[in-house]
Amino acid sequence: MTEAVIEVQGLVKDHFSNFLRKRFRALDGLNLKVEKGESFGLLGPNGAGKTTTQKLLLGMLKPTEGSIRVLGKSPGDKEALAKIGFLPENPYFYAYLSASEFLDFFAQLFDMNKNDRKARTKELLELVSLSEAGNRPIRKFSKGMMQRLGIAQALINDPELVFLDEPNSGLDPIGRRDIRNIMLMLKEQGKTIFFNSHMLPDVRDICDQVGVLHRGKMVGQGRVEDICRSGTYKELEDYFMDLINSSEEKYRQSGNATPYHIEREGAQQK
Ligand SMILES: Nc1ncnc2c1ncn2[C@@H]1O[C@H](COP(=O)(O)OP(=O)(O)OP(=O)(O)O)[C@@H](O)[C@H]1O
Ligand SMILES: [Mg+2]
Repeated sequence: MTEAVIEVQGLVKDHFSNFLRKRFRALDGLNLKVEKGESFGLLGPNGAGKTTTQKLLLGMLKPTEGSIRVLGKSPGDKEALAKIGFLPENPYFYAYLSASEFLDFFAQLFDMNKNDRKARTKELLELVSLSEAGNRPIRKFSKGMMQRLGIAQALINDPELVFLDEPNSGLDPIGRRDIRNIMLMLKEQGKTIFFNSHMLPDVRDICDQVGVLHRGKMVGQGRVEDICRSGTYKELEDYFMDLINSSEEKYRQSGNATPYHIEREGAQQK
């Protein structure tokens, strides 16, 4: 029997503005299941609810409704967190540490001994092509270098399950390819990957399953090979655009204002 690493049912998250405590439903009835060794790509326009979903799965936010199990535990469970790696959307780095010191610091949080920390730091710096910059202070790093360091940090504990919030943002084409290869390597090692991304060609290469979020609702979900081999969609981008545009149309027809402006090449303008 397959083992669900992530299982979400009826997940709802409301955010409240401080002003007048106005409610905003960021996630509305999300269901999803990711099995051991699978890669799940969560797609959606800006503001769709992708980061909110990851934060809920990690226990950084509390759900308004619904149930979440991650590695068989409630989100934020310490035993489960020890087996999880996480690259946040906007990672924070202590600028005066070198990359090696930064990784060593994270390794200490996982109680690794000095020799193991040293070996793991070296291995990860090599993996993300930062060996030459290992002793430089992070404040001298470019955005792409910081993103690579963030990925290394997410892997420090050799996690079973990795959450990556836009791992390929801010990278040059070489960096993007490197990260894609790292993710494929993680997949080969049997890790489960849950990531948010706007880079649809990379998602196609890496993911087994995708989910498309729009205005907090999952408007499409399926296996990448089924989507791209069905004949209806040649590229994941076509699937994505189709779902978002039809969902947006329904949203507008329901009397809601402020449409997204998504233009697909060759699509007729209304
Ligand atoms: N702390 C918060 N308080 C109020 N609203 C929030 C909060 N965090 C997120 N939101 C709102 O929830 C919605 C979803 O935000 P989220 O960050 O999950 O989007 P996203 O899909 O990750 O977008 P992006 O692609 O830009 O990263 C947005 O409308 C956002 O403004
Ligand atoms: Mg986000």
